Amino acid sequence: MTSSNSLDRKSQAWSALFSEPMSELVQRYTASVFFDQRLWRADIQGSLAHAEMLQAQGIISAQDGADIQRGLTQITQDIESGQFAWKLELEDVHLNIEARLTQLVGDAGKRLHTGRSRNDQVATDVRLWLRDEIDAIRELLKNLQRALVDVASQHTHTVMPGFTHLQVAQPISFAHHLLAYVEMLSRDDERMGEIRNRTNRLPLGSAALAGTTYPLDRERVARSLGMVNAQGEPQVCQNSLDGVSDRDFAIEFTAAAALCMVHISRLSEELIVWMSQNFGFIQIADRFTTGSSIMPQKKNPDVPELARGKTGRVVGHLMGLITLMKGQPLAYNKDNQEDKEPLFDTVDTLKDTLRIFAEMVGGQVNAATGVKEGGIQVNAQAMEDAVKKGFATATDLADYLVKKGLPFRDAHETVAHAVKAAASHRCDLSELPLNVLQGFHASIEKDVYEVLSLQGSLNARNTLGGTAPAQVQAQIARHAKRLA
Ligand code: ARG
Repeated sequence: MTSSNSLDRKSQAWSALFSEPMSELVQRYTASVFFDQRLWRADIQGSLAHAEMLQAQGIISAQDGADIQRGLTQITQDIESGQFAWKLELEDVHLNIEARLTQLVGDAGKRLHTGRSRNDQVATDVRLWLRDEIDAIRELLKNLQRALVDVASQHTHTVMPGFTHLQVAQPISFAHHLLAYVEMLSRDDERMGEIRNRTNRLPLGSAALAGTTYPLDRERVARSLGMVNAQGEPQVCQNSLDGVSDRDFAIEFTAAAALCMVHISRLSEELIVWMSQNFGFIQIADRFTTGSSIMPQKKNPDVPELARGKTGRVVGHLMGLITLMKGQPLAYNKDNQEDKEPLFDTVDTLKDTLRIFAEMVGGQVNAATGVKEGGIQVNAQAMEDAVKKGFATATDLADYLVKKGLPFRDAHETVAHAVKAAASHRCDLSELPLNVLQGFHASIEKDVYEVLSLQGSLNARNTLGGTAPAQVQAQIARHAKRLA
């Protein structure tokens, strides 16, 4: 008998053995359908490939194959149009779809699960779903890189202070600074590509844990799901126990996502600092900021702040997932159902963050004019004033003296005295008169002013990877080609 807060076992897929109903609380605690229904497309894709193979191997009839296909097509339409009735008592996405299939096509629906278990089914679904999400993320990573390169290309001669310890160190171009983030994001993209390859392997055919007694053709299924390597060869999990229980791909994806968020968090921190009144280096478009409910003058950089905050959340998901696996014996354990929410949230958070940053940095094409607008606005004068405040060309003066024959350590010492003098005169090194500079070392001549100029300082760092405009322009060209 079914009481009001319990469930009739007969509606479940594994009813016969049980003598008492499941309480509503246990049902709610164990069910995953309200979050894993998001895997429905991958689930149907996997089922179609499995059924096609069962038929090709003569395990089910052509009629059953056709019925399954028809039923799953109907279910696809129902889910897409919001008509599908998801049921908590059917536990998860897999049992919901299978039960509906059987309702639609009868016994053929019951034959779909031949040689398959939910254990290899769910592992396959998550991999298929994540593979496509990785592809989308890689596109978004490229878009953000394009936006950064776009802004950089306008600022190869815009000088700002380069910092170490957040103290003014040496002049760099704004373009050079932005391209550092392009490097980070290009590694993120590369990492995602490697992880995609290990994600794109087929567990299906592992069955519950030990393989199956039916003559499955796993490589055929892998091929039809596009689980192939660069040479087009099928990629199939080679050990059934590992196949059903491996979640490495989810962990390494989340690790890569966390690292990518850390990169964006670092950029966020810089944007926040740069737009504070004390720096005033940049502005971001108003639509990425919010006002204060009490201080009328405020424009707060909420978007970069939130990205910095959400980084903690994704790092947390990595901790959650890696801890989930710790201590699990082989093979599948229900613990693994807990892999989905952190993984889904990681994907959603990363995608939204990448999207919003591409727009905030690079702007958006105005549909009416076709012109890109709303990206980062640079205050080049404020950047230049900040470099001058920090004696950023002190190293250039030391290098100048070395070229005149001084040992570097002596040159360093000499320049320290010059900096002290400039500080007491409240001026930049380049503003000290020649006779004052010559007081520090007789070898100093008029050509020192070119060395002490900001553009001169940039131009002088003309080694591969340096901030000289020629180097930065070469990097921009390399990235533009890579991202074309
Ligand atoms: N909903 C389950 C999950 O997400 C599907 C696999 C269930 N397998 C089982 N043996 N109970 O992991």
